Amino acid sequence: MALFDFFKSQGSTSYLGVDIGTTSIKIAELEKGKSAPRLLNYALLETESALLRANTALQTSSLKLFDKDTVEFLKMLVAQMKPKTTNVVASLPLFSAFTTILTLPEMDPKDLEQAVQFQARQYIPLPISEVALDWSKVGEVEDDQGGKVSQILLISVPQEQIKKYQNIFQSAGLVLRALEIESLSLLRSVIGNDPTPTMLIDIGSLTTDILIVDGGSLKYSGQTDFSGSSLTQALATSLNINPLRAEELKRERGIIGTGPNYELSTIMLPFLDAIISEVRRAEFTYKNQFPTAKPIERMILTGGGANLLGIEKYFKDQFQRTVVRGAPFSKMEYPPILEPLGQELNSLLAVAIGLGLKNL
Ligand SMILES: Nc1ncnc2c1ncn2[C@@H]1O[C@H](COP(=O)(O)OP(=O)(O)OP(=O)(O)O)[C@@H](O)[C@H]1O
Ligand SMILES: [Mg+2]
Repeated sequence: MALFDFFKSQGSTSYLGVDIGTTSIKIAELEKGKSAPRLLNYALLETESALLRANTALQTSSLKLFDKDTVEFLKMLVAQMKPKTTNVVASLPLFSAFTTILTLPEMDPKDLEQAVQFQARQYIPLPISEVALDWSKVGEVEDDQGGKVSQILLISVPQEQIKKYQNIFQSAGLVLRALEIESLSLLRSVIGNDPTPTMLIDIGSLTTDILIVDGGSLKYSGQTDFSGSSLTQALATSLNINPLRAEELKRERGIIGTGPNYELSTIMLPFLDAIISEVRRAEFTYKNQFPTAKPIERMILTGGGANLLGIEKYFKDQFQRTVVRGAPFSKMEYPPILEPLGQELNSLLAVAIGLGLKNL
C-alpha cells in the first residue's frame, strides 16, 4: 500500500497521524519505542457547530470539515501539542474514495501491476490520469474451470482531492507525507496482524464504517449514515431538547436502560438497531462475495460511538459473538498520565494512531 506516499522523509523519528472526521480532528504523535511504538502526545478537537448544523452541509463537502476551518483547527492543535515533527500522515474518509474488488487470473506480481491498471479503467468513473490508485490482493478463489483467480481490492481517489489535502496541511505549516483510507489505518492500529476473521465497526459522528478483515487484510468495507449523531438527534427530537443537551445525556446515560434511563434507551435503540441491521447486511454481502471465507469470529467496536455505555453488551446479545472495543493502546507505550482515559481514547484515537504508525 504505497501509492499515496509522496516523499520519503529521511530520518524523521516521529509522525503525526491526523484524522479529520466529520465533527472532529484528532492528532496522535508516534515514535519508535524500545519494544513497541510510543505515543508521545495527542490532541483532539470536537466542534459543536457541526453538531448544531446536523446532517446538512457537511456531507456534501468531500473533505468532512470545511477547508478553512480545518486549517485553523490544525494550527490550533499543533500550537497546543508542540510536536517534534511536521511530518503528517492523514486519512481519507471512505466516502471520498472509490473501492471495488477486481478479479484477475493468477499471475506474476510484476504483471499484476499492469493488469490492475488496465482493469481499473473499466470500473473507475473518472479518467485514469485523474485518480491515484492503490490496491492489494485480498483473496483467492477458483473459477469455473478450476483455475486460480486473485481478488484485488482496488482503491482510487481523485487527484484533485489529494491536492486539496496537500494544500490544507501546507497552509497549516505541516508536510503531508502520505494519505491513507481510514479503514486501513484502523486495521493497523486495532487488528495489526491478527488473522482472526473480524468485523470492525467504526461508529463515528455522521457515518458508521463496517469493515471485514480476515488473515489481517481488508476484505470488505461498507458504510451507513446511521451513526452517533442519529442517537443524539433522536434524543433531541423525542425529548424536545437542544442537540447539545441531548449529546450530554447520551454520553452520561448510554443505553444501560434501567430505572430513569429506561426511556432514554428506548428512544436510542431503534437507531442502534438500524446500525445492527446494516452490519448484518454487510456480513451477508461478504459471504456472497467470498463464499469459502471463514466465519466471522468476533466484532470490534471503535469510533466515539463505541463509548456509548452498554453498547458492547447490546451487540453481544444481538450477535451471540465476542464483542470488544478496539484497544490500540494495548500495543503501545504511552505516558502513564493517559491511563485513566485509556478506554475512551482507544476508541477516539484509533484512526490517528494507525496513521501515525504507518511510516514508523
Ligand atoms: N461517551 C460517549 N457515549 C456515546 N457516544 C459518544 C461518546 N463519546 C463520543 N460519542 C459519539 O461519538 C461520535 C463521534 O465519534 P468520532 O469522533 O469517532 O467521529 P468522527 O470521526 O468525527 O466522525 P466520522 O467518523 O463520522 O467522520 C459522536 O456522535 C459522539 O456523540
Ligand atoms: Mg472517524
